[in-house]
Amino acid sequence: MGDFVVEGGQRLTGTFAVNGAKNAALPLLAAATLADGPVVVHNIPLGIRDVQLMLQILRTLGMRLHSPAPHVLEIQPPTRLETTIPEALMRQMRASLFLAGPLVARTGRVTVSRPGGCDIGVRPIDLHLKGLKALGAELEDLPGGRLVVSAPRLVGRKIYLDFPSVGATENIMMAAVLADGETVIDNAAREPEIVDLAQFLTGLGARIYGAGTDTIRIVGVRRLSGGEHTIVPDRIEAGTVAIAAAITHGDVEITDMVPEHLVPLWRKLEEMGVELIWQPGGDRVRVRAGPRLRATTARTGPHPGFPTDLQPQMVALMTQAYGVSTMVETIFENRLKHAGELGRMGARILTDGRMAVIYGPTPLESATVEATDLRAGAALILAGLAATGTTRVVGAEQVERGYEDLPRRLAALGALVRAA
Ligand code: EPZ
Repeated sequence: MGDFVVEGGQRLTGTFAVNGAKNAALPLLAAATLADGPVVVHNIPLGIRDVQLMLQILRTLGMRLHSPAPHVLEIQPPTRLETTIPEALMRQMRASLFLAGPLVARTGRVTVSRPGGCDIGVRPIDLHLKGLKALGAELEDLPGGRLVVSAPRLVGRKIYLDFPSVGATENIMMAAVLADGETVIDNAAREPEIVDLAQFLTGLGARIYGAGTDTIRIVGVRRLSGGEHTIVPDRIEAGTVAIAAAITHGDVEITDMVPEHLVPLWRKLEEMGVELIWQPGGDRVRVRAGPRLRATTARTGPHPGFPTDLQPQMVALMTQAYGVSTMVETIFENRLKHAGELGRMGARILTDGRMAVIYGPTPLESATVEATDLRAGAALILAGLAATGTTRVVGAEQVERGYEDLPRRLAALGALVRAA
């Protein structure tokens, strides 16, 4: 179990180039199993652990993968796809469930494991299965949590999502592109990663309309060709670095990103007194923070609400703001564990269910703290940047699940962060 060691007190300055989005790469790699020709993907964060895991799964399915250059991946689909996802790999990453939709559409059958919960919640898959069953798939539970999803043919249907689940929207979309007839997903998730997946599939010949809105229409086609795609910038990585700049009262230009994807974060940072400079249609944001941050209130929500994946990082920032801040986590039932770890560093945070009340500013002292999930890990690194002395964040591999080479890239901004 590796750790990150952070020396606090450095003001971040300089330029940070954002990578392609992990949460776009994972469903896209699953969707590549739908192609019956070669696929080339650009701006893919190959150094991220979860992406490496997905590549391992694709290899076990028979896909031939080659990376001719950094962040470029060539995928050759096999003549015959395996249809069983290895249990050991499924248990390591919930996102392997993304393979259910495309594989049942492409081969008529897939064997997966019901993914376990994780530190941020139970993470059920009922909406994924409701959608696949609506398209005509049969589900058969096998011993040991294994699940066989099968369908000789999928038939398009109207599907209502009780919650705008990102993964369920993506899984159903990937199954519907080869179904007979038209599928409509009502109350669909609207995240930018959904739009990116739809653009990738459209490039392969799929017919998808309305991605990015809460109603997505898919007209099934007989087959999908190969194609080429550049993955959308990672808005969560960009937001994490913006908060790192704010918590160190720094001055950072974040490039290779889409500012419009993070308006909720910009509004909250402006309420706290952070200066943000960006142009609509541009590919960068400059983040400048003075010595005095103001408290604010925030609540997470489905896009375009405040992203739950930036909630822990925002709570860390709120510990340095003058006044009483609140954060309500509406997406996951157990995603405030970082409050206890921040408390070990001197933060004053009360939590009750899905709400945190943060009293600031509190000077943060060095401590040894534990990353309970990848975004909590990132939040603790940010807190370490603002703390006096040396903070040890245990569980670096959690952070490496979602961020490629973060210590080196933060060090380029002046942070004293190293893997230990
Ligand atoms: C995606 O997870 C992201 N992961 C998560 O990012 C992100 O936090 C989440 O969307 C919300 O934005 C990837 O894209 C790989 P959901 P996903 O289905 O698809 C409930 C990170 O840090 N739900 O939108 O699993 C669920 O319990 C990760 O990068 C059901 O009830 O999220 C949760 O409360 C963490 N039934 C809520 O919906 C279902 O069938 C949101 O889940 C599915 C979900």
